Amino acid sequence: MTQVVGPATTDPDVIAVLLGQHARVKNLFAQVEAATGQARQERFDELRQLLAVHEIGEEIVLRPVAEKAAGEQEADARNAEEKEANKVLAELEKLDVDGAEFAAKFAEFQKAVLAHAEHEEREEFPAVREHCSPQERQEMGRRLLKAEDKAPTHPHASAAGSPTAQKVVGPFAAMVDKARDAL
Ligand SMILES: [Fe+2]
Ligand SMILES: [Fe+2]
Repeated sequence: MTQVVGPATTDPDVIAVLLGQHARVKNLFAQVEAATGQARQERFDELRQLLAVHEIGEEIVLRPVAEKAAGEQEADARNAEEKEANKVLAELEKLDVDGAEFAAKFAEFQKAVLAHAEHEEREEFPAVREHCSPQERQEMGRRLLKAEDKAPTHPHASAAGSPTAQKVVGPFAAMVDKARDAL
């Protein structure tokens, strides 16, 4: 059975996969801020889709291990931040992306998400890297890549023609459900 895990250069180590997603999240935040109108909406949709796959992946694949590696308190704090982010995102997606209310809320959201990611990179990632064998980390990384393959996070991925590879544009909650199913 052939297993598609993305380009051959992809490092399937879970930490490398998550760091790659963090970099793309950061980049998409900047792209949303720089765009207007239809382009702004599209970048925002892309960001929501990536966040859905990323945060649910962390919740299901990373957090149970992080709880042992970095402590329960650390894991609980990160889970709580992700829950809060989901709430803000649900409010954001009801707003006009070109409105002042969106701009203000989006800037706040960006700050919170990036602070959250920094915490993960400082506390959880090094602990998990230490706690798990390379094989375990690759196993976790592969699960994340597979989930992203089934719930694509960028428009080009849907061009593959796979019936499961259809870009979801809808409420964030639905994106999260799809990503959860993919895991
Ligand atoms: Fe997270
Ligand atoms: Fe993260």
